[in-house]
Amino acid sequence: MIVVHTIAELRAAVDPVRAAGSTIGLVPTMGYLHDGHESLMARSVSECDATVATIFVNPLQFGVGEDLDAYPRDLDGDSRRAEAAGVDWLFVPSVGEMYPEPVLTTVSVAKVSQGLEGASRPTHFNGVSTVVTKLFNIVGPCRAYFGEKDYQQIAVVRRMVADLSMAVEVVGCPTVRERDGLAKSSRNVYLSDAEREAAPVLNRALRTGASMIAAGETDPAVVEVAMAAEVATQSLGALDYLAVVDSATLQPFEVCGPTSRLLGAIRFGRARLIDNVGVPTTGGSRV
Ligand code: PAJ
Repeated sequence: MIVVHTIAELRAAVDPVRAAGSTIGLVPTMGYLHDGHESLMARSVSECDATVATIFVNPLQFGVGEDLDAYPRDLDGDSRRAEAAGVDWLFVPSVGEMYPEPVLTTVSVAKVSQGLEGASRPTHFNGVSTVVTKLFNIVGPCRAYFGEKDYQQIAVVRRMVADLSMAVEVVGCPTVRERDGLAKSSRNVYLSDAEREAAPVLNRALRTGASMIAAGETDPAVVEVAMAAEVATQSLGALDYLAVVDSATLQPFEVCGPTSRLLGAIRFGRARLIDNVGVPTTGGSRV
């Protein structure tokens, strides 16, 4: 694996490989890699001829008072993990390399970016869509791997790619979890022991809601009340939102059913955790 720090170096490495007929996989991350990131890298390595992973803690997607400075970093550990996953190039640009001047051009995806995460973090998705656009432009035509853990993020990226005719195929990958259901996240490191013990309540609440819909409940309000009651069984987390939306549009709807997606966010101390599940089909899974 080659670690690359500049846009010019990365282009010089990737472009000839694509020109020679190889397919390129891209796995954008903010680092502090865990099994969830690794599952994306492994999938890219298995499906593409060559894989670029990126590590960039993107200032543009952090709001005022968020954890930009505290965001965990471990470049040595990340390099080992990425190399073990079979990544060919690890792109680790500096903030100055990505944003040499104050950014005047941003990409903003209306509607899909609003509500849910967008309601709590109003500037977040503009930062994501802008940096992902830059990464797509730097790497060039590719297959890009994103985790369903950030469900709204995938919806935003898919819509951006479609609206702007980007030469990228977006691949969504299932959420990797701890044994107790907690979605793996770089931010889990912020949790105290007591918070870590309480944190799986978010996934439990979402699964409670999903099971109700699978069993025939069609009123999203009833499902949301039941999920909130599950979260209220512990006292440590401050609920941000729990919502039942259409899995394709992410808009709330009057009647829920098999194509619903259940999403939630809870704050535990410094950690703001998010998760989501689909509605299980008989014998199916709902990662
Ligand atoms: P980050 O939070 O580092 O996540 C990088 C990728 O890993 C995202 O696609 C995310 O959905 C995926 N991922 C995180 N936890 C996962 C889990 N438990 N299971 C499966 N996939 C998981 O998301 C970002 O970074 C940034 O917003 C980024 C897209 C890199 C733009 O800056």
